[in-house]
Amino acid sequence: MKKRPFVFLCTGMSLDGKISTAKRIDTRITTDDDRNFLYDLRVPCDAIMMGGRTVILDDPGLTVKSVRRQKQRLALGKTKEPVKVGIVSDISKLKINGDFFNKGDAKKIIFTTERSPKTKINELRKIADIYVYGKQKVNLKKALSKLYELGIKSVMAEGGGELIFSLLKDDLVDEINLKIGDLILGGRNAPTLCDGEGFAGTTAKQVRLISLKRKNSYLMLKYKVKRVN
Ligand SMILES: NC(=O)c1ccc[n+]([C@@H]2O[C@H](COP(=O)([O-])OP(=O)(O)OC[C@H]3O[C@@H](n4cnc5c(N)ncnc54)[C@H](OP(=O)(O)O)[C@@H]3O)[C@@H](O)[C@H]2O)c1
Repeated sequence: MKKRPFVFLCTGMSLDGKISTAKRIDTRITTDDDRNFLYDLRVPCDAIMMGGRTVILDDPGLTVKSVRRQKQRLALGKTKEPVKVGIVSDISKLKINGDFFNKGDAKKIIFTTERSPKTKINELRKIADIYVYGKQKVNLKKALSKLYELGIKSVMAEGGGELIFSLLKDDLVDEINLKIGDLILGGRNAPTLCDGEGFAGTTAKQVRLISLKRKNSYLMLKYKVKRVN
């Protein structure tokens, strides 16, 4: 297999495992909405990866706001802000004037498929690097190899559940950083940490708990994902 970056997940979920509401509206999962867990983990990564639905619905800026964290990144030999990576099957619905493309100074990379109209690809090429890697879904192995080739050695994948399932299925996750909040969101259709088609009992991914810390309103857990081979 070709070389790829170290991939770690960083996701926040409610006590009942939901990462958003049933209507997929970005929401808090803890009572105090402390974002330090997420912002601290953005410091050591070269790139942040998001699934297409998250980029389209939430339009996250993915910036490193605090000057202290920006300085920490520079001291590590990194750019002030991580590269933004979107895994988007069809780019038609992307908000070109939104936060993902316009907040901060980071480089933007979109991996897409043949479902994206060529005119849209050419339009987006003015503000982002675009790679067409797949017919229906993005080939994630190929996308990660390309990121490695571009000098990106660590990728933080924040979600959502469909992207995380695909990354785990393809054995592309090394570490999971999980924040478990003190709110219960419910909703049978609300996205969870890992959705997709799901694994059968025998193919279920195995993880090993590395650390567990308690904050006022949430738990922080770190796991290593057991390699298949
Ligand atoms: N709490 C957190 O930490 C956190 C973090 C991130 C996101 N979220 C939430 O997660 C929700 C969205 O999650 P989601 O599961 O619906 O969507 P998602 O994982 O953000 O995006 C999945 C979409 O990406 C496209 N895609 C292209 N290639 C793919 C591949 N190889 N594997 C998987 N997807 C691929 C697909 O679009 P097509 O179906 O069009 O092919 C797929 O539906 C939002 O509500 C967001 O707020 C929460």
